[in-house]
Order: sequence, then structure tokens, then C-alpha cells
Amino acid sequence: MAVVGIVPAAGRGERLGSDGPKAFVACGGRPLVEWSLDVLEEVCDRVVMAVPEGWDTDPDHVAGGAVRSASVRAALAAAPEAEIAVVHDAARPLITRELAERCVDAVRSGWQGAIAAGPMTDTVKEADASGRVLRTLDRSVLWRIQTPQAFDAETLRRALDVPDEVLAAATDDASLVEAVGGSVCIVEAPPDNIKVTTPLDLEFAEALLRARS
Ligand code: C5P
Repeated sequence: MAVVGIVPAAGRGERLGSDGPKAFVACGGRPLVEWSLDVLEEVCDRVVMAVPEGWDTDPDHVAGGAVRSASVRAALAAAPEAEIAVVHDAARPLITRELAERCVDAVRSGWQGAIAAGPMTDTVKEADASGRVLRTLDRSVLWRIQTPQAFDAETLRRALDVPDEVLAAATDDASLVEAVGGSVCIVEAPPDNIKVTTPLDLEFAEALLRARS
């Protein structure tokens, strides 16, 4: 089955406070996204990246959309051969080959989506706008959802074929697949599969990458 990596890398990275797009900020001596590309290129037949307007200089770079899932849709549209799509954020440089392969294997075994996630270690409460606590949730059934997220590509195409405002409200692609009735399973990720959002995350990621090598 043709496995294609889809990397949304078109975010501006405002919370990181970087000059340019977050995916290309230096992390451990190279652009952040390259750590992810190394792994995806081992697992996938091809990798397509959604990049900011003006950065689409490579045949496998496409211009991203206004929101994350629109960038995923644009990249997937450039890979009509994909039978399994492995969506992975440029902002998670600690992805491992083993984690990506476990997601792909779950899709091969019949799931329409298989998504990396970490168990919830904090207590989680729901509160109203004033800060008043309404209730405490059962954390034993809650997961912090990450990427990679592998999908049956046909199901993902169908899930992404929705109006832009629906894409804008989606915080991950699996939620769109769930909305069209797709079956999605959790794949437990190593605890260091962090997302780089703030300057502190970037320092943490660099330390973890250094420790790995
Ligand atoms: O902003 P956030 O960290 O949630 O973005 C997750 C990933 O989605 C990043 O890799 C970012 O580059 C990408 N993204 C994108 N297109 C957008 C917004 C974010 O490809 N319009």
C-alpha cells in the first residue's frame, strides 16, 4: 500500500516569537521540520509538506491553507496515490520510527485512523467562563492527542471534504475522521513526543534531541 507522509508546516509560529515560520526555526542545529522528515522518509514512500506561501520551492512542497487542517487537505490533494496517509506536525521533532510504524500497522490491520497519544497525568476539571469548577473528569479514560496520526487515505480525503469553517474548528484530523464515522484507535506514544509551541518547548526539545544522540 502506498504510504505518504503529510507534514503541515505552514504555521507562522507566533507563540514561539520566531522571525520566520516555526517549522524552519533552528532546533539542534537544523530546521525544526527536518527531524520529522528524517523519520517519515524512512517509513513512507513519499513525504509532502504544506509550507507557507513563498516557501513552496520543492515539487513535494505545496502552499498551506489558512488553518492547520486546510494545510493537511492541500498536501493530501498533491498525493493522489496515497492509500495510507501519515499526518505529522512539523512541530513534533521527537517522533520515532517505531511510533510512526505502530500507527501505520494499526491502519493496515483495519482501523481507519490510528493516533499517537499520551495518558493524562494531571487531574482534569471542567470550569465555566468565571473560573468556577463544574466537575472533575475521569482522567483514566482521557488521552492527550498528538501526531503522528495515520489514516486510510480515502477516509481522510472524505473527512477533509468539508467547508473551511469546519476545518477551522478542528484541532486535529482524527476528529474530522470521527465525524464521518471512521474508526480511530489510540497508539500510546513515548513521553518525550512533545510539541514545540513556546521558546521553553524549543529548549526542552533541543535537550531531548541531544540526549538521544
Ligand atoms: O500552531 P500549531 O502548533 O497547532 O500547529 C501545528 C502544526 O500545523 C505546525 O507544524 C504548523 O506549522 C502547522 N500549520 C499549518 N498550517 C496552518 C497552521 C498550522 O501547516 N495554517
